[in-house]
Amino acid sequence: TTKIIMDTDPGIDDAAALTMAINDPALDLKLVTAVAGNVTVDKTTANALKIVNFFKQDIPVAAGAKQPLIKPFEDAARIHGESGMPGYDFGDDYGEPIAKSAVEALHDEIMAADEPITLVPTGSYTNIALLFSQYPEVKDHIKEIVAMGGTLSKGNMTSAAEFNVFTDPHAAKIMYDSGVPIVMVGLDITLKALLTPDTLDKLATMGRAGEMLHDLITHYNDGDENGHPMHDVNTIFYLLHPEAITTEEMWVDVQTEGPAMGETVGDIRGAYHDGKTNAKVCVDIDTDYFNKWFLEEVSAIKD
Ligand code: BDR
Ligand code: CA
Repeated sequence: TTKIIMDTDPGIDDAAALTMAINDPALDLKLVTAVAGNVTVDKTTANALKIVNFFKQDIPVAAGAKQPLIKPFEDAARIHGESGMPGYDFGDDYGEPIAKSAVEALHDEIMAADEPITLVPTGSYTNIALLFSQYPEVKDHIKEIVAMGGTLSKGNMTSAAEFNVFTDPHAAKIMYDSGVPIVMVGLDITLKALLTPDTLDKLATMGRAGEMLHDLITHYNDGDENGHPMHDVNTIFYLLHPEAITTEEMWVDVQTEGPAMGETVGDIRGAYHDGKTNAKVCVDIDTDYFNKWFLEEVSAIKD
């Protein structure tokens, strides 16, 4: 099994990614840390707890950064609703975050692990940037960072920038410049691997977990008649089925200012960085397999 930590901002696609990470036996989810992003950190922490509690797990959840390092915080409630996870009633009894902050919890978990751990950020990278600034020694104990965010082509926030990177570009720059191996799971694949209307209909018939995801995704304002992008779920799909995703190694630079703020510039010709690389960038994905796998994962969850 692969030991992972998820740093997340649920968020409907985050909730689906957590669902897979919690339930797939090939993954061992050690810790969940929450960050401000789709909605405020109080809400993303509560939402992470709701998913963990829904599956009756005792995986610790820690609250993280309330705002980006420098840029003012702006949520994405227009996409994920005011609560961040609308459409399903999780009740009021979903527990509390642990007393440690996200940064302390990340540090302690990474340093205590008996093998290098895989970090899976599906929100902006504020907690990770703070962790690397405060505890640079953790970098040697991380196997890789499989991060949703970025794009080699068009953005979904500005012409150039994807939401997670745009939300905290300074944190993204710290993460990309850290020297830790990164897999960039960006819009280049996540806008391709749409969850089709047919897959969404089938979810509703797949027991408690399927109903929950169906109800959330029905309230998700990202997508059109062709389907919904399950951005964050692509990180988990990559971990379990790397053969279904094509990657290219390159250097990725993050822009922090001006009209390109939040852009992830891939040095695809190797010209600027002299052939050196800091990331594997996901460039293509088997979309049919993604949909098939999504349903298999959910149908394997016991009620
Ligand atoms: C990213 O932005 C968020 O709204 C989603 O949860 C995902 O992490 C996609 O750009
Ligand atoms: Ca997210």
